[in-house]
Order: sequence, then structure tokens, then C-alpha cells
Amino acid sequence: MNKVPVKVFPTPETATAQLAADTATLIRNNDLAGKPTVLGLATGSTPIRYYQELIRLHKEDGLSFQNVITFNLDEYAGLPPEHKESYWMFMQQNLFSHLDIKAENIHLPSGIVDEAAIPAHCDDYEKAIIAAGGIDQQILGIGRTGHIGFNEPGSPKDSLTRAIQLDQITREDAAPSFDGIDNVPTAAITMGCGTILAARRIVLMAWGAGKASIVKKAVQGPVNDIVSASYLQEHDNAVFYIDESASTEL
Ligand code: PGA
Repeated sequence: MNKVPVKVFPTPETATAQLAADTATLIRNNDLAGKPTVLGLATGSTPIRYYQELIRLHKEDGLSFQNVITFNLDEYAGLPPEHKESYWMFMQQNLFSHLDIKAENIHLPSGIVDEAAIPAHCDDYEKAIIAAGGIDQQILGIGRTGHIGFNEPGSPKDSLTRAIQLDQITREDAAPSFDGIDNVPTAAITMGCGTILAARRIVLMAWGAGKASIVKKAVQGPVNDIVSASYLQEHDNAVFYIDESASTEL
């Protein structure tokens, strides 16, 4: 029934420990080969434990991020980096400030580019990913709309980095952290589905009963633009790391 590999773990902690160990192996093997490691990163509540484990491996196990290059999926339109809810701030607080990563190797789309300059900014983002050698491992969460990054329903499979209007459900889910839906941005800049699918390995994480029904649609449903995570069924190295409560409808 599952049209993409799914690994069910007893808890999010066991899943993220495995993913962080996978990531450490990837980084160390690339270091030995003299190659940088290019990581595609995500925000939201889902990857926080993964980031905590990467920080632990850095501090306690000597895992170095000196040769790691990162590209984040998305950023809210209109939020400057110093805004408390910007994804730039999220990444600094939850990961980057705790590692030895070089500032120039960190990439996020900017939320404060003038409207007229957005297409060129997005094009530059795509070119920077290609210039880095492409993404070795992209991690993803999944929204209740089935979005990956901010690729809301209607996003084509070959879409690239671009501005997008946020779905009402996505804005409702963000409302508590913004002290109300009126403060939630209406748009974002996001990597496209095509950008994500170009990664050599993709790991989508999902925790909790609230994700069970969208996980089922992404894993077992038809591949279409109603659930952009369903495109992962057509990738040759994509896997879902989920906990038991997110797996109950499979
Ligand atoms: P969450 O968001 O990690 O906060 O559940 C996931 C998403 O919207 O992609």
C-alpha cells in the first residue's frame, strides 16, 4: 500500500537520533573524500529534536560543520531576519549559533526583497544550490495541507523557488506563535517542488496523531498537486521517518 518507503519509530527521539546519525555519517564520509556536504534544512516544530541531536554530536562527538553548506526551504515574506518569527532567527536559535558552521555557507531565501526583485532573488537561490553541487540530503516536515516547504496545494511538480500565497490552514497553524492570525504573513518565498525533488536524498519527518491523515494521503494517495508531499513517491531516494502515532492510518 505504501508507495514510498516509510520507517516507523517508537518515538520522535528514536527517529531523530537515527537521522542525525545518518547525517553525521554523510558529513564524515564527505569530509574524508574532501567534499563539502550540502544539507537542505527545514523549520517548524518537527525538526527541532533533530537539530538538538546534531548540536549534541557537534559538542560531544566532535562532528564538525566547517565543510557543511546549508539551504533552507523557505522564509516568510515581509519578515526581516531579526524578526522573532523569521525562519532566519529560528535557524540561528535552534541550530546555527550552536555549531562551527561558516556564516557564508548558510543560505535562506530573503523575506525582504522588493517585489520587483523577487524573481531574480529566487533565480539566484536556484543557481547557488547548483553551484554548491546540489543538495545531498533534504529534510522536510509536512503541513496539514500536505505542503513541503511552503508548496501549498496547486504547486506544480517542476516548480522552482518562488513567491507563494500561504493557505488559510497554514496561516491558522502559525497563528499561535504570531499572537493571532492577523499577524501571520500572507505570503512566503519557498523552494519549489522541483527544487526539493532534485535533492539526492529526501527525508520527510512527521510526529503525532495530527499528521496521520495527511501522511496517509502523501504515502498511499495519488500523486498530484493537491498534496505536494505525494510527489516524493516518484523520487528514487525519499523516505518518511515517522512515529507510531503518525502511522496509525497506514
Ligand atoms: P510543523 O510544520 O513542523 O510545525 O508541524 C510542518 C510544516 O508546516 O511543514
